[in-house]
Amino acid sequence: MAGDPRERLTLLNSAIEEKYGGLKPILDYVMGKRGFDFSGYHPAMLERRIGQRLSANACEDFSEYLSCLQGEPSELDQLLDVITINVSRFFRDTLTFELIADRILPAIIQDKRQSKDHSLRLWSAGCARGEEPYSLAILIHELILKEELSLNLHIFATDIDGGTLADAGKAIYPLSSIENMKHRLLTKYFTQEGGSFRLIPEIKNLVTFSLYDMLDKKHSVPPESVFGNFDLVLCRNLLIYFNPEYQGTIFQKLHHSLARKGYLILGEAETPTMTYQRHFSRVIDFSPIYRKS
Ligand SMILES: C[S@@+](CC[C@H](N)C(=O)[O-])C[C@H]1O[C@@H](n2cnc3c(N)ncnc32)[C@H](O)[C@@H]1O
Repeated sequence: MAGDPRERLTLLNSAIEEKYGGLKPILDYVMGKRGFDFSGYHPAMLERRIGQRLSANACEDFSEYLSCLQGEPSELDQLLDVITINVSRFFRDTLTFELIADRILPAIIQDKRQSKDHSLRLWSAGCARGEEPYSLAILIHELILKEELSLNLHIFATDIDGGTLADAGKAIYPLSSIENMKHRLLTKYFTQEGGSFRLIPEIKNLVTFSLYDMLDKKHSVPPESVFGNFDLVLCRNLLIYFNPEYQGTIFQKLHHSLARKGYLILGEAETPTMTYQRHFSRVIDFSPIYRKS
């Protein structure tokens, strides 16, 4: 391979173009219909995911699949469903949630007490079916009870996938979603209905869900939150799907949305991009918890 890094990058890009070029008309179609830009997703992941819909529709190749997509309006929702991977569960990454409960939330509350600020603003970006923001809501509820706090609490939760958000609003989960939960919290905050678990309204009502694309160019923060200024943002297991350029766009948004010294929680396999490393300091070296510096 060529020695010059720029030449190597050009060769790499043209190899990607050759291998995944057939995806572009499909991504353009999705963009035109719904305004979602998936061109920054890793091509191999897109090929795998779109390939699932190709097989499901017995199409020979991407161009045949595009015709199928154009001819069958409901196929677009099916496609969006497989591209946006909604896998999540309550208290995913147990250690990180324990650290949020034992160290991060108490530190935020202490700062708030000192500055006589009673508001607490949190955002779960890429919230899937609500497992993540509801986990946070349970932790805060526990803290409010223990410390007898009076807080003006706002938990915003956003996702690009409307179907997923509709499920989040129902707040009914299968066993696989709650298997990381402590038994004490499970019995306190859920009612069992056959094989499913329903979150109690007291917690459900703490979270405001809305549709929001992390690549939205018009709004730098979710419009429902009006001005951002979050004390804590969770953006977990979303950045991994994007190429570095798009990750940079998302970090710009995350940085802008946080209050001064606000906390950012990423997924286990995610770190700030090169440009943003100096804008965030890692708070705990064995967990992806960062603070705006
Ligand atoms: C794997 S789930 C992660 C859920 C949760 N944060 C967790 O860590 O368990 C990724 C979520 O990101 C959402 N997503 C993907 N691209 C997005 C985008 N551009 N804007 C907002 N959400 C997006 C998907 O719809 C999906 O619900």
